[in-house]
Amino acid sequence: MNPRSISFQLTAWYAAVITVVFVLLGGFMYLGVKHHLVKNLRETQTKRAGVIAETLVARVAQLGEEHVIMEVHEGYAPELNNRFIRLTRPDRSVLFVSGVPVELTFNPALVPALGRPVKGRTTRVERLEDEQELLIATVPVPAAGGTWLVEVGASLAPVQALLRDFLVSLLVALPVVLLVSAGGGFFLSRRAFRPVERIVRSAEQLTLHNLGGRLPVPQTGDELERLSLALNQMITRLDGAFQHNRRFLADASHELRTPLTVMRGELETLSQQADGEPELQDRIGSVLEEVERLAKIVEGLFALSRLDAGEAQSEWKQVDLARLAATTAEQMSLLAEDKGITIKCESPGEVMVQGDSGRLKQVIVNLLDNAIKYTPPGGCVTVCTGARDGTAALDVADTGVGIPAAAIPRVFDRFFRVDKARSRAEGGAGIGLSIVKAIMTAHGGNVSVESEEHQGTRFHIRLPQYTPVAGHIEEPAPGLLPTADALKSRRH
Ligand SMILES: Nc1ncnc2c1ncn2[C@@H]1O[C@H](COP(=O)(O)OP(=O)(O)OP(=O)(O)O)[C@@H](O)[C@H]1O
Ligand SMILES: [Mg+2]
Repeated sequence: MNPRSISFQLTAWYAAVITVVFVLLGGFMYLGVKHHLVKNLRETQTKRAGVIAETLVARVAQLGEEHVIMEVHEGYAPELNNRFIRLTRPDRSVLFVSGVPVELTFNPALVPALGRPVKGRTTRVERLEDEQELLIATVPVPAAGGTWLVEVGASLAPVQALLRDFLVSLLVALPVVLLVSAGGGFFLSRRAFRPVERIVRSAEQLTLHNLGGRLPVPQTGDELERLSLALNQMITRLDGAFQHNRRFLADASHELRTPLTVMRGELETLSQQADGEPELQDRIGSVLEEVERLAKIVEGLFALSRLDAGEAQSEWKQVDLARLAATTAEQMSLLAEDKGITIKCESPGEVMVQGDSGRLKQVIVNLLDNAIKYTPPGGCVTVCTGARDGTAALDVADTGVGIPAAAIPRVFDRFFRVDKARSRAEGGAGIGLSIVKAIMTAHGGNVSVESEEHQGTRFHIRLPQYTPVAGHIEEPAPGLLPTADALKSRRH
């Protein structure tokens, strides 16, 4: 679960809103219920006290105190009904006080007498010593000898118990409501964003070599459908522009090859004819050098344009990378010796890969060429090959000038050179490594580099290793060869 995803943030927002609403609503309901219950209790007690006052206490002179006590006992049965009833004479002496209720909810003997004179009907909450709370309504009534007081009360314990139950239900309901709403909200938002995830996955698979693919268009009739349609149109335009670019590069480099070959031939003939004129020969020589440099760049561009277009894989064969590295290193050792550099080749056993041996050789040549070019005399270049966990590896390491850390991410870019002046002097155009990268991509492999300035550089080549199908080790039938896709999937 990604906390920065829209579905997570939406769910978190709604969960927070629901919690606040639930707490506020629960609080209001709790206070409302409490108010209603207390008000109801107060009204009942006041009404009852009023009835006792009017029907019995007001007529105490005619009925007699004994009769009033009997009537209260029989008519209201305070002990059975959990009530508190107290009748007080004008001289503050108590005529009647109810006994301990059968439910033992409070002790009437603990209810203190009213200290102050009572003007009209009042209610009060009396907290007894045993922590019990009684709601008592007091009604003053003028009768024989002055103002009598009728007090009728009931315990608040049932109201408090009800409120407690209500609160517990709210507290239990909150996490349940939260879980259901957040879970449901997350599920629904994830479902709503599923088309976006599909579009993202397809977009991630689009590369410069795979611009033919299109994003899925959800038939929702909303902004998402419009967005994917617009993105698809943009990809089509991009694809067209890239195709155009590629065709231009391929055509231009192809067209330049022939005149350059003719120029080289002509210059060589001219140079032979200018025998005996050293100055003219020198000038022809330097033009020839530039023409050769140009031819090399054009060859590089032509190779890149073919690799970009995706070369046919029908030419692919099993290649022993170890042997290829050893023979190439051997061929280039003369060049290295001229510069006073030693080349070492460490290849413990055969390392089989599937690919175009010419292109793979080009990779090794370009890497060795760089290693020799950018290593001062007396240095050492090492080529090693190996295989592990289905991956073939080839490393080219040198003890040369190294690449500055800031330049490392750009060394595979076309026409990038760290030190332009030095590179040009060495005849470099900055496309050797981009060709290496293009060949590796075409073979489902990759190339990476580690380098430390003035210490040396190490290029790593990784390719899917070819594992022969049993019984077809030497020359497997074409149908049994794994395809490039199969190789790619084996790598992942
Ligand atoms: N082994 C290395 N040691 C130090 N720097 C290197 C090494 N390999 C490549 N570089 C740097 O990376 C740059 C790009 O290399 P790349 O092979 O693409 O171009 P180049 O060698 O200059 O020219 P080209 O290969 O086209 O003749 C080089 O100019 C160089 O600065
Ligand atoms: Mg190079």
